[in-house]
Amino acid sequence: MATIAVFNQKGGVGKTTTTLNIAAALAMLEKNPLAIDLDPQAHLTQSLGVDQSISNGISSFFRDERSLLDLVQYRPGLRVIPAHSDLSKIDALSGKKGSVASRLKEGLGENLAKDSSPIVIDCCPLLGILSLNAIISADRVLIPVSADFLSMQGVQKVVALLEILRVRYGKEFEFRILLTRFNARRKLSHSIYDTLRERYGEKVCDTRIMENVSLAESPAYGKDVFSHAPNSQGARDYYALTQELVDTGFFKNSPA
Ligand SMILES: Nc1ncnc2c1ncn2[C@@H]1O[C@H](COP(=O)(O)OP(=O)(O)O)[C@@H](O)[C@H]1O
Ligand SMILES: [Mg+2]
Repeated sequence: MATIAVFNQKGGVGKTTTTLNIAAALAMLEKNPLAIDLDPQAHLTQSLGVDQSISNGISSFFRDERSLLDLVQYRPGLRVIPAHSDLSKIDALSGKKGSVASRLKEGLGENLAKDSSPIVIDCCPLLGILSLNAIISADRVLIPVSADFLSMQGVQKVVALLEILRVRYGKEFEFRILLTRFNARRKLSHSIYDTLRERYGEKVCDTRIMENVSLAESPAYGKDVFSHAPNSQGARDYYALTQELVDTGFFKNSPA
C-alpha cells in the first residue's frame, strides 16, 4: 500500500484536479486506486459524481468509528471514499490530542494493510486535524504549486512541516512538487519552475501541468479529464505525470 497525500496549504493550486486525474490515470493503468476525499468542500466527491449523503462520508469514520471499508464506493477501475460538508466539524470535535492525528493511519492499517493498490488523498487547504491525518497516514506528499508567487511560498511551509513531522514521528516523508497551471508564454511560469528546480532539484516533477480548459470543465460533468476530453493537453499532462510518478517509484509499496 502506497499512500499519497496531495497537499498545499494554499487553495486553488490544483490539489483536487490532481487527485482526480491521477486516480483516473492509475485506474487506466489498472492499478485499482482508492481516492479519499478529505476536504469538507467535497469537490473531489462532486467531480467523481458519487453519492454524497452524510452517512456515507468519511466523517462517519472519524465521528462514529465506521469502518473505512463500509464507506468505499465503486467506479470503473477505481474506488472512492467520499466527503460531505459535515467533515468540517471534525476539527472542532477532535480536540487537541496528538493521537487524533493518527486515526486515518490506523484505520487504513486495519482495513487495507494487505491491499497493494495506491491510495490518493485529496486534502483541504488548511493545516488542521484532517490534513495532518492525511499526511501522517501517507508515505508521500505530492505538493501542487500553481505558477504564481504565493503558491510557491506554500511549498516552503509544507516542506518545513514535513521536517517537523520527521522529527516528531521518526519517519521520512518523501515529497514531490508538481507545477500546475503552467503557461509557456508567461515569463513568471518559467521563472517559478527554475526557482523550484534550484531549491528542490529532483523533487520537482519533470512533468508540468499546462493551463488547460478541459481540466477546468470536466468536474462540471462529474468526469475526469480522460473521460471528458481524452485528446486534450490536460489528459496528456496528467497521464505523463502519473507515468512519471509510477516510473520513479512514487507509488511503490512501502514496507509495512
Ligand atoms: N491546469 C489547469 N488548467 C486550468 N484550470 C485548472 C487547472 N488546474 C486547476 N484548474 C482549475 O482551478 C481551480 C482550482 O483547482 P482545484 O484543483 O480545485 O484546486 P485546489 O483543490 O487546490 O483548491 C478549479 O476551478 C480548477 O478547475
Ligand atoms: Mg480542492
